[in-house]
Amino acid sequence: MFSKILLAIDGSEHANRASKSTLELVIQLGNVSITILHVSTSAPSRRELLQTNFDVHSLLENQAHRIVRETEDAFKSVGILYTFQVALGDPATEIIDRAKEGEYDLIIMGKRGLDPLRQVLLGSVSQKVLQHAPCPVMIVK
Ligand SMILES: Nc1ncnc2c1ncn2[C@@H]1O[C@H](COP(=O)(O)OP(=O)(O)OP(=O)(O)O)[C@@H](O)[C@H]1O
Ligand SMILES: [Mg+2]
Repeated sequence: MFSKILLAIDGSEHANRASKSTLELVIQLGNVSITILHVSTSAPSRRELLQTNFDVHSLLENQAHRIVRETEDAFKSVGILYTFQVALGDPATEIIDRAKEGEYDLIIMGKRGLDPLRQVLLGSVSQKVLQHAPCPVMIVK
């Protein structure tokens, strides 16, 4: 039923829990393709651009790899292959667009993220993805 999964990671404890659940699900399901996606919300600074010779993609990718390292390490440690993607912009919009373009059949994410102070059940990214996603969404508590 689920053969192409998109896992959205912002580096939060909630997202790390979502990656643990994803790992368990992937082990149970077997033949699944999994993509780890991080959306960067701030464009590189002028100094960073100059330092990297305006290679924006590598810059974003390196920053994102640092943020999703825990998830990548967990997948590697059990030998699960994955694809890594980085995007720049509004996280919910990017997650929804990628899910549509890539024809994913499941999105997995945390219920809250890096700003869990407000007393609401779901973060704004989870809420928007849940509302507009083209496929089922698994929100990990
Ligand atoms: N920049 C991002 N890139 C990838 N996934 C993200 C990103 N931001 C949030 N997510 C996903 O959405 C989940 C919920 O985070 P969300 O941002 O909605 O909550 P929050 O940070 O607590 O609240 P808010 O951002 O609305 O103040 C995260 O656990 C993660 O799975
Ligand atoms: Mg957030």
